[in-house]
Amino acid sequence: MSSWLPSLDGVVQKLKIGANVADVGCGHGASTFLMARAFPKSRFYGFDYHSGSIEYARHVAGRDGLLDQITFEVASSKSYPANGGYDLVTFFDCLHDMGDPTGAAGHVLSTLKPDGTWMIVEPFANDRTEKNYNPVGRILYSASTMICTPASLAQEVGAALGAQAGEERIRKVVTAAGFTRFRRAAETPFNLVFEARP
Ligand SMILES: C[S@@+](CC[C@H](N)C(=O)[O-])C[C@H]1O[C@@H](n2cnc3c(N)ncnc32)[C@H](O)[C@@H]1O
Repeated sequence: MSSWLPSLDGVVQKLKIGANVADVGCGHGASTFLMARAFPKSRFYGFDYHSGSIEYARHVAGRDGLLDQITFEVASSKSYPANGGYDLVTFFDCLHDMGDPTGAAGHVLSTLKPDGTWMIVEPFANDRTEKNYNPVGRILYSASTMICTPASLAQEVGAALGAQAGEERIRKVVTAAGFTRFRRAAETPFNLVFEARP
């Protein structure tokens, strides 16, 4: 995370001054807490469609005295509220789990400020299947078969991108929804970090 946010154009400066941020598919809020602690002047909203996860995240926020800075709400990626528009929307390891990633991308576009940024963190994957025949690909394809793909198929549309979607597939989803700019901003052996702008 300490190198991912700085890889995005102008985002850290906004977070330092005080930005409005949505962390979508936040699960237990691990990423939301990391960002909120690093940028105390910014306001964070964590959304996930799984109520048990949001309950847990709210409990931790209350325990750690962060309820003034973070609001956790049960909401899907296609219906979370705009709260006046976001400077930054983050999706950590969850776009590929969604049934309708293009629908979610369209909703992100409608909730971002005109100069806002969408950060998408996805598991590392190459575009061609045979290029993923390596130890990381084997682990991620296994997890994807057991978790990510069924999660997506259980939702409307059921796009089933899977954990090994790759950059070109993600680019198609993002640009089909109307984003005009998309680039790989950072990578690690396990993750790809993309920046999408309106
Ligand atoms: C692999 S987990 C990642 C959780 C968290 N972002 C993290 O990095 O720890 C994927 C998350 O996406 C959420 N999710 C899947 N489909 C969703 C949807 N349509 N709307 C909102 N959240 C969704 C799941 O409930 C789950 O918490």
